[in-house]
Amino acid sequence: MCGIIGFVGREQAAPILLDGLARMEYRGYDSAGIAVRSDTLGLQVRKTKGRLQALSDMVHGGVDLEGALGIGHTRWATHGEPNDVNAHPHVSENGSIALVHNGIIENYMELKEQLLRHGVTFASDTDSEVVAQLLEYHYKECGSMLEAVGRCLRRIEGSYALGIICSDYPNALIAARKDSPLILGFGENGNFIASDVTAVIRHTRDVAYMNDGEIAVVTADSIDVFDSELSPLEVEHHQVDWDVSAAEKGGYPHFMFKEIMEQPEAVRKTVSPRIRDGRVVLDDVRLTADYVRDISRIFIIACGSSYHVGMVSKYNWERLLRRPVQVDLASEFRYSDPLVDRRTLVIVISQSGETLDTMAAMREAKRRGARTLAVVNVVGSSIAREADDVLYTWAGPEIAVATTKAYSTQLVLMDLIGLYLADLLGTVSAEEYAAIVAGVQALPEQMQQVTDRVEDVQYFASRYFNHDSIFFIGRNLDYAMGLEGSLKLKEISYIHSEAYASGELKHGTISLIEPGTLVVALGTHAALFDKAMSNVVEVKARGAEVLAVTTGRFREKMSKTADAVVVVPEAHPILQPSLGVVPLQLFAYYVALHRGCDIDKPRNLAKSVTVE
Ligand code: AGP
Repeated sequence: MCGIIGFVGREQAAPILLDGLARMEYRGYDSAGIAVRSDTLGLQVRKTKGRLQALSDMVHGGVDLEGALGIGHTRWATHGEPNDVNAHPHVSENGSIALVHNGIIENYMELKEQLLRHGVTFASDTDSEVVAQLLEYHYKECGSMLEAVGRCLRRIEGSYALGIICSDYPNALIAARKDSPLILGFGENGNFIASDVTAVIRHTRDVAYMNDGEIAVVTADSIDVFDSELSPLEVEHHQVDWDVSAAEKGGYPHFMFKEIMEQPEAVRKTVSPRIRDGRVVLDDVRLTADYVRDISRIFIIACGSSYHVGMVSKYNWERLLRRPVQVDLASEFRYSDPLVDRRTLVIVISQSGETLDTMAAMREAKRRGARTLAVVNVVGSSIAREADDVLYTWAGPEIAVATTKAYSTQLVLMDLIGLYLADLLGTVSAEEYAAIVAGVQALPEQMQQVTDRVEDVQYFASRYFNHDSIFFIGRNLDYAMGLEGSLKLKEISYIHSEAYASGELKHGTISLIEPGTLVVALGTHAALFDKAMSNVVEVKARGAEVLAVTTGRFREKMSKTADAVVVVPEAHPILQPSLGVVPLQLFAYYVALHRGCDIDKPRNLAKSVTVE
């Protein structure tokens, strides 16, 4: 996620800005920049792709830039490749306004076209630059920067945390936020804005958290906050009691837990720009109806959790498209002499976009004539660059080795792609299309309901963490979801685990069930609940301890047999795994916590496997 820092005070700003950005490096970024206002030189902007050290070297640690007012940014690319031009700060056309932004401007193309018609020229491909140019337009119109900010914010849609400086205002910076966090820091030698506490905790623990729609005017000695109508607001101060390392995790004990809790927001950021007036719009993916109708086979290729997303999508896509969908492990696909030709669509899923097995499988598919569409989290990554089309999950950087929010955003984006393709094929009714779109839009709130109630899962993990083998059983989508639950548990708690299609138990695995064996029974897929229940009865009859996950509708029935039940909200059947997986992630997390495991960096594992 991008990192923002701003300072205005009685010290040189550049070194303070660089230090603040360095303290936010953990957030993940691909480029960095600062802008400092000088009485003699106006706005001095330095920015570069790559590591923060490159920026610091460029300005000799900040010594080169004179001025006590400035803004800084580390960019996690969402719109526009990581490069020098797309890095922030962005500057308005006449050079008078510099801006840094965290978030996604959903209507940036529409605004950009309007500004282009006014003769504005753009330097970058980013959505953020549109805000800088729009600010200049309104500033010319009204002559007041605060008023210009108000007018600008009333026109933009999407999420933003903004830091703005203007060469006409030597003593003040302006900040605004909606959906992307931004704090205000009250220091002795000046005042701050920042994406999170980490960046300013060295200077002050006296902070205020901006609320959505608020605008702040920050000077060396004062911070005034206004609402969207520019009416003044009271500022509520908080004293930060975190230590610095806790601050990096936003106060959470581990990145994995933080990222589980970020899922509602990550899913919202991934889907909301892709649903307009009830229709799924997929950025600039060039899949025409003729092409889609001519597809003879679809492959989904990935590794690990991304492969598990493919397993869920297989069930959903075959139901929606009525076309064969084959899911392969990338490491198997590339050596299996796959049946791929120019009428094959190959979907490649990867959080990092650098997994070598997946990259090699994609190249093999392309070599055989397939069309490739990548679903990737890291903008500008190798797989993203080499695929014919790419759709990004906007989960933000995922630090924990065990994926959670990237998995969830991949899952929901695959649902949207499946719906989009089914619509092109005419294999989904208008009613079901609308129901799925409505279901996707409801997911963030429903996921929030699950992440708001972690204590149930925390309690069950405290009861079951001492098992040395745990089974996950379920049917259809529950089975596919169980694969991910089982991997999460194995990865971070080192407990052996297997996910099984519960109808398959009687064909072998049930011999392993003995008194006390822990079975996590997944009963969220309504259409096969009764079948799933019969399998729960089977394992109970052999002495298993059963922790079940189901929806409210089936709580009572499940409670009659299972020893413990976790309930998740009910969603459209296709979307149900997005909710059922959250307690499985939490279960793995809390079990690992009880076992004293290194949760964010589990043994033997890397975040991106760039070797065979
Ligand atoms: C998931 O928790 C693991 N870290 C791992 O299975 C991962 O999903 C796999 O290595 C694929 O990574 P990718 O999505 O970056 O390609």
